[in-house]
Amino acid sequence: MTQQRMLSGIKPTGDMHIGNYFGALKQWVDMQDDYDTFIFIPDYHALISVQDKEKMERLIMDVAINLLAIGLDPEKVTLYKQSDVPCHTEACWIFNCLTTMPQLMRGHAFKDNEAKNKDVSVGLFDYPVLQAADIVLYDAQLVPVGEDQRQHIEMTREIVRKFNNTFGDTFIEPQAVIKEEVGTIIGSDGQKMSKSYGNTLPVFASETETEKYIKSVPMDSKDISEVKNPDEYPLYSIAKLFCNEAQDTELRAMFEQGGVGYGDIKKHVTSLINDYLRPMRARRTELENDLDLVKNILKKGAEKASNIANAKMKEVREKVGFEIK
Ligand code: TRP
Repeated sequence: MTQQRMLSGIKPTGDMHIGNYFGALKQWVDMQDDYDTFIFIPDYHALISVQDKEKMERLIMDVAINLLAIGLDPEKVTLYKQSDVPCHTEACWIFNCLTTMPQLMRGHAFKDNEAKNKDVSVGLFDYPVLQAADIVLYDAQLVPVGEDQRQHIEMTREIVRKFNNTFGDTFIEPQAVIKEEVGTIIGSDGQKMSKSYGNTLPVFASETETEKYIKSVPMDSKDISEVKNPDEYPLYSIAKLFCNEAQDTELRAMFEQGGVGYGDIKKHVTSLINDYLRPMRARRTELENDLDLVKNILKKGAEKASNIANAKMKEVREKVGFEIK
C-alpha cells in the first residue's frame, strides 16, 4: 500500500520551545515512519516579520538544525525550505485571484494585528493563501499542526474547492491532524506557554537553565505532609509531558502521598526533563559543527520537493489556460 503523504512546516522565528515541540513537532517525528513525510521551513512566510538578511539566514539554519536534532530523519523525510521551490509563490498568485478580501479578513493573524492597530502588510493578509499553496502543490492528505493552525487548513480546503469548481478536479482537500489529548501546554506561570508571555522553556536550553526554569514555577503554601492533587499544579502539567507511564505514576505519588517537599519534587522533575532532552541537545551541538551536512540535506530535499511541485504546477498552468499548444 502506498503511504499517505503528510506535510507541515514551522516558521523560523526564535527558539523552539517545549510548547512547539509537544504541540506539533513531536507528532512529525512520531509519524515519519508511517507516512511519506514532507517538512519545510516557510521562509517566504517568515519574511513578513524578519526583514534582515543575517537574521533570516541564521533563523533558517537554526530551524533546520532543530528539526534534525529532535529526530527528523532525512532518510525518511523530505526536508526543504520553501524559497527553494519558488512555484509556491506562483500558485499563491493564482489562488489570490480566486480568494476574496472578506475571506481573508476572517483570518486570526489579520484580525489580531488589526485589533492592535498595527500596520498589516499585504504579505500578512495573504498568509493563508501562500500556506494553501504550500500544502496542495504536494497533494498532501494530512497536515499535522498545532491548534492555532486549524483555521488556516480550513481556508486551504475552501481554496481547493474553489479551484476545483472553477477549473476541474486538480487538488485534494487536506485534513488537519491536531493532537487533541495534548491540550494547551502550560508555561511556568500557569498561562498558555507562549513566547509573548515570556514563560517558555526552550528545548535547547542548558541543564542549568532548565533547573532555573523549574525553580521559577510557583507552588503554594501547603504543608509538606498534606495530600495534594497533582492536576492543580502547573509544575505537574509541564512535567507530565516528559513522563512515560511509570514515571507519571511515580510523580503523581509524590504529590498524592504527601511527605515530599516541593524542592525535592522540583529536583526530580528537572532531571526527568534533562534526561529526556539530553540526546536532542547533544545532537544539536553535533549538527552545529557540521553545517555542510545540514545544507546538503536541505538541498536534496529541495530537489525532491521541486520535482513534485513543478509537475503539479505544470498541470495548474495548463488548467487555467497558460499553456497554449
Ligand atoms: N503557519 C504555520 C505556522 O505558523 C507555518 C506554515 C506555513 C505551515 N505553511 C504551512 C504549516 C503549511 C503547515 C502547512 O507555524
